[in-house]
Amino acid sequence: MTALDIRAGAARPTRDPFDSDLFRDVLGRFCSGVVVITASRSGENVGMTCQSFMSMSLDPPLVAFAPAATSSTYPAIRDSGSFAVNVLSSTQSATALGFARRGIDRFALAPWHLGETGAPLLDDAVAHIECELYAEHIVGDHFLSVGRVVALDGHPDAEPLLFFRSAFGAWSAASHSATPKQESS
Ligand SMILES: Cc1cc2nc3c(=O)[nH]c(=O)nc-3n(C[C@H](O)[C@H](O)[C@H](O)COP(=O)(O)O)c2cc1C
Repeated sequence: MTALDIRAGAARPTRDPFDSDLFRDVLGRFCSGVVVITASRSGENVGMTCQSFMSMSLDPPLVAFAPAATSSTYPAIRDSGSFAVNVLSSTQSATALGFARRGIDRFALAPWHLGETGAPLLDDAVAHIECELYAEHIVGDHFLSVGRVVALDGHPDAEPLLFFRSAFGAWSAASHSATPKQESS
């Protein structure tokens, strides 16, 4: 089966040889937000676009992202010892693309200001989550980089940028919104 064969109910587990096109196509159906991870190493601003971001733990407060082992930016983020997660807004698709390009001045693309940790924060983001590096794991061809949250802020009105099947989109609330019940401890 190839990526082109996917229809509802038609997909099957892939065996050897593993079909990486099918993997990309199916996993691309998981819709996510988009973040830019930023840091400052010895006064040099660095940043990269990531889709692989998640909230991990409330106590202690931890979040994580997954940079590719081949990323040339991630070692500088690691060396800085702290980083900021900039949750992009629906107006920032050009920023998302720019922070994924090599050989350009990424910080010329969008206005920014300094955060608590010294990391640059992109002005138009939906939220900023500043972290100290807490743990790092090698997971296949990526790292899982875990941060302990030290500062937070969120824009009251901005709407998020979404990423689905290699395309950007914007949030639209359904007519019936659902608020999941929190588990009590
Ligand atoms: C929407 C989008 C999501 C991305 N998500 C990730 C990701 O989760 N992890 C990752 O390593 N790269 C991701 N990338 C690619 C990196 O941004 C890009 O490869 C990287 O910035 C290249 O430059 P570098 O070598 O300086 O890291 C994503 C790119 C885009 C456009």
